[in-house]
Amino acid sequence: MKTILITGASSGIGKSTVELFAKKAWNVVATMRDPSKAKEFNWPENVLVLKLDVTNKKEILNARKKAEEKFGNIDVLVNNAGYALIGAIETCSEKQIRDQFETNFFGAVNVIKEFLPRMRERNSGTLINISSIAGKAVFPHYGYYCATKCSIEAVSEALWYNLIHTSVRVKIIEPGTIQTQFYAKGMEIGEIKIPFYEKTADKQLTGIKTEGRTDPKVIAELIYKAATDNSRKLRYHAGQFSTSLLLLRKILPDSAFMWLVRKKFNI
Ligand SMILES: NC(=O)c1ccc[n+]([C@@H]2O[C@H](COP(=O)([O-])OP(=O)(O)OC[C@H]3O[C@@H](n4cnc5c(N)ncnc54)[C@H](OP(=O)(O)O)[C@@H]3O)[C@@H](O)[C@H]2O)c1
Repeated sequence: MKTILITGASSGIGKSTVELFAKKAWNVVATMRDPSKAKEFNWPENVLVLKLDVTNKKEILNARKKAEEKFGNIDVLVNNAGYALIGAIETCSEKQIRDQFETNFFGAVNVIKEFLPRMRERNSGTLINISSIAGKAVFPHYGYYCATKCSIEAVSEALWYNLIHTSVRVKIIEPGTIQTQFYAKGMEIGEIKIPFYEKTADKQLTGIKTEGRTDPKVIAELIYKAATDNSRKLRYHAGQFSTSLLLLRKILPDSAFMWLVRKKFNI
């Protein structure tokens, strides 16, 4: 029986991924900052819930030890925990920017560094990092979030090269807009008030379409594909806007692509 460990499993994509892999009879280690949140989920016995805040190295180590004690080797690691800091570049405080990187970037890197050595030694395993369409295209007022996801793309691509002569696989998932807690509780707004940006920020934040977002189960299925296809393929995408946006980013010159972004965000 294979084992998967997922960070940020208390809601959204992480929770759907736990449920899909559990249904497929994997051993699942569902990690989250507050394990009491899992009480109401009624997850089956093959799901082990553990406390893990990705900004806390001790908790990462403890989670690895407890997961291995219960299930043995971890075959698949999903770096999913994350949130978005939004606001114009000037309106986000240094603490907010550092915290954003602590979770989305350093958190993911710390988890990789804890689990990768075992995979390398066993010459087996798959690392799956949840990026975003925002790792490929930059949106106004999402500058720091995009910076963290672009950084995850870079690290994942470098890892792909680092591990090319092993059997450890590296995968990047690029979701489009997904119907999760991300847009409600998962967003933090820049705390520095600067009147110059207020008008454009309101337009941009209220201009985003809320209908048609994709069910997180679709991303869970994509993660399952990435975990099991046994290929060297690096990038996978799914979800609202992902196909069109990634294609346009690839084929259009900056000037045309950025014009489209301005239209979309009313600026
Ligand atoms: N939704 C989208 O449109 C979308 C699109 C592209 C990419 N993504 C990415 O998908 C991933 C999952 O997001 P989601 O859409 O499923 O949103 P979500 O429902 O808000 O889930 C985010 C999860 O991350 C956890 N988390 C946040 N900070 C953490 C930390 N320091 N340590 C451990 N866990 C932490 C949250 O835990 P708590 O319950 O403790 O807050 C929650 O379980 C994120 O990396 C996000 O950037 C989302």
